Amino acid sequence: MSILSVEMIDVNKWYGDFHVLRDVNLRVARGEKLVICGASGSGKSTMIRCINRLEEHQKGQIIVDGTEPTNGLKKIHEIRRDVGMLFQRFNLFPHLTILENLTLAPIWVKRMHKKAAEEVAMHYLHRVKIPEQAGKISRPTLGWPAAACGDCPLAMHEPEDHAVR
Ligand SMILES: Nc1ncnc2c1ncn2[C@@H]1O[C@H](COP(=O)(O)OP(=O)(O)OP(=O)(O)O)[C@@H](O)[C@H]1O
Ligand SMILES: [Mg+2]
Repeated sequence: MSILSVEMIDVNKWYGDFHVLRDVNLRVARGEKLVICGASGSGKSTMIRCINRLEEHQKGQIIVDGTEPTNGLKKIHEIRRDVGMLFQRFNLFPHLTILENLTLAPIWVKRMHKKAAEEVAMHYLHRVKIPEQAGKISRPTLGWPAAACGDCPLAMHEPEDHAVR
């Protein structure tokens, strides 16, 4: 029996009068990799934001690992622990170092020890060949290192096999 990681059933969302998601149906199996393509402004990011409930949809069902995130804050937290999202504009905290940006969520959300979180973060910074950036403040002007670091928080998330990107 295939286990669905994400299931969307007739999902509709509006921003005011603007009908941004219209009858979206999607089934993503565990381990499946899926690319969602579409014109700019067609609603790809909105759809992903709805999956981990950064946005609310008004109609239809979204089920993540058998759970509907609409069912209370606890469920939403559970889902956010496993659904990673790489933001288009990286969204790093500009007053924190790269290392602090990478370790913030694992320490606060996953209750990882600081040292362990830093070890994992350094592992990924080595993987993207910018370990020397660890102690630097993550200004948006950082250029390509910011892009590489933008990807690291998702990797830090260590999603099992159902990261939505
Ligand atoms: N918070 C919001 N309030 C009102 N309208 C919004 C909001 N966020 C997005 N939109 C609008 O919804 C539509 C879909 O936006 P979205 O960012 O999901 O598109 P996208 O497919 O991810 O585009 P891109 O390829 O440029 O990233 C766009 O017309 C956008 O202007
Ligand atoms: Mg987008």
